[in-house]
Amino acid sequence: MSVLLIVVFVSIIASCNSISTQTYNIETPLLNAQSSIKIVLISDLHSTIHGKDQTILIDKIKNINPDLIVLSGDIFDDEVPMTGTQLLLAGISGIAPIYYVTGNHEYWSNNIQAIMDELALYEVTILSDSYTIIEINNNEIIIAGIEDPDKRFYETTYNQNDSMENAFRELDEIQLFKILIAHRPELIENYKRFSFDLVLSGHTHGGQVRFLFINGLFAPNQGFFPKYAGGLYTHENLTHIISRGLSINPRLPRIFNPPELVVIIIEANP
Ligand SMILES: [Fe+2]
Repeated sequence: MSVLLIVVFVSIIASCNSISTQTYNIETPLLNAQSSIKIVLISDLHSTIHGKDQTILIDKIKNINPDLIVLSGDIFDDEVPMTGTQLLLAGISGIAPIYYVTGNHEYWSNNIQAIMDELALYEVTILSDSYTIIEINNNEIIIAGIEDPDKRFYETTYNQNDSMENAFRELDEIQLFKILIAHRPELIENYKRFSFDLVLSGHTHGGQVRFLFINGLFAPNQGFFPKYAGGLYTHENLTHIISRGLSINPRLPRIFNPPELVVIIIEANP
């Protein structure tokens, strides 16, 4: 009996640590007819290594064959060496254009310049309260990104809201599909002030525990039973997708809440 219990327990732990792939389909009239864009969203890796030399995660991304890869913060960690992130970047560089924003742990690392240097090495575009217009599958879209508010630990005058106002107000005039990458989902009310169609976030690690009707037990900056733990949320014309993240770390255990790789397929309205 005790052996059976151990086997069941080990199986549960193993299933909680295997990467699941979550796919969301969204539609928009802002793409050319019959066209689509496939995005892979990678969040909160915290430099975790999945399989030998990161091969499990890299192979999954290669198989998805995305048009665009988004890194929505806490890809590096403040306590774990950056090897896992370096392996990931080396493995996915060249598959598709990669866009990145900071998370709080990257600012907590006291190593932000080394992190930026590492991203540059793999030709990752860093979006720092800025946006760019890119062409994918004959569609022009806007991809924007904001800094984690803990940038203020480095620049004491930094104010995320003011910086967003300066960077994104002019987007109201542009009729293209607009994506915002923003690490922290709980600040969605701030992002809603602008004309984005899709916001991509992380930070919550799925609320650590998911069970029956509980979609997340606890998330930073939201507390117990967080409103925005992970999944797809709709705010009128804005879609907000929150990744449950990819880290495995004893600091933040996962119970029925496996690491998650998110795929978003944006399709033209038929
Ligand atoms: Fe975070």
